[in-house]
Amino acid sequence: MMTMNSHTPVMVREVLQLLRPQPGEVFVDATVGLGGHSVEIAPRLIPGGWLIGIDRDPRALEVAGRRLEQFSGAIRVTLVHADFRELPQVLSARGLEGVDGILYDLGVSSMQLDSAERGFSFRFDAPLDMRMDPSRESITAADIVNRWSEVDLRRLIQEYGEEPAAARIARAIVQNRPILSTQQLAALVAKAVGRRGGHIHPATRTFQALRIAVNRELEGLQEAIEQAIRCLLPGGRIVVLSYHSLEARAVKRAFQRLSGKCICPPYTPECRCGAERMVHLLTPHALKPDAEEIALNPRSRSAQCRAAERLAAS
Ligand SMILES: C[S@@+](CC[C@H](N)C(=O)[O-])C[C@H]1O[C@@H](n2cnc3c(N)ncnc32)[C@H](O)[C@@H]1O
Repeated sequence: MMTMNSHTPVMVREVLQLLRPQPGEVFVDATVGLGGHSVEIAPRLIPGGWLIGIDRDPRALEVAGRRLEQFSGAIRVTLVHADFRELPQVLSARGLEGVDGILYDLGVSSMQLDSAERGFSFRFDAPLDMRMDPSRESITAADIVNRWSEVDLRRLIQEYGEEPAAARIARAIVQNRPILSTQQLAALVAKAVGRRGGHIHPATRTFQALRIAVNRELEGLQEAIEQAIRCLLPGGRIVVLSYHSLEARAVKRAFQRLSGKCICPPYTPECRCGAERMVHLLTPHALKPDAEEIALNPRSRSAQCRAAERLAAS
């Protein structure tokens, strides 16, 4: 069977249909990664467009830069080392009041997962690092695993990993410290959980939880997406790809709130969430990759795609 290489961007067809990049438009790829989506967006902005790629990982920006070089005569290409939570500052520093399209492809890149020494994956034995931006983040996964209390580790693995065996895993971690490498941790988690059938390794959820904590991935995510919506020009489009339920929840809430739908808890006597009608939802329900894409690119299997368009008068 034909398989796509590990850097294949996810749901490209759907992303392009929803973003509809046009000649001369200004687009932001807020998680440019290896430039997989950007190399598809860039030719559609010719002539006269501008593509701004943001990533917090300096190594991703190097790869994206090389891949996007081919377009630099035909459109403006700017790569920025920043956190996407700084989007308004990135735009105002370049004299932009709004843009025509913004893409978020959340989470970790295949290059980060495949770089053995970065410690994101238990497929390789490496120090427990997991920092997307080693120049800004100071806490590593090893710091969390070796310093946090059992209670805090349990809560982390339960909340960010949605792991039913969090208590057993946290106890095993505390009893076996110091834990220095990815495979040492993976083996210990597998032993604590007991081999579960199923298609994922028993340590997958624990590694996800640590990665989310190290990179503060959920901190202010809803606010960041809302902020991005405010950076759209009238008619501008935003697309967000998320990969687990915690991310999906934050994205959904941002989209609901700014499409005018109250997200207050049920039975709240009066709306306190401040819902505003700024966008029209292009995907009333999240889109998922089709079976063919999942077969060709298994990393796409958990993707959810949501999109919205900025209203003219908002
Ligand atoms: C799934 S990858 C993007 C892959 C990209 N769409 C492609 O096709 O090559 C996610 C990227 O987002 C970056 N990232 C994650 N959180 C970020 C944040 N808060 N600010 C900026 N970049 C972030 C990661 O470093 C990673 O390179």
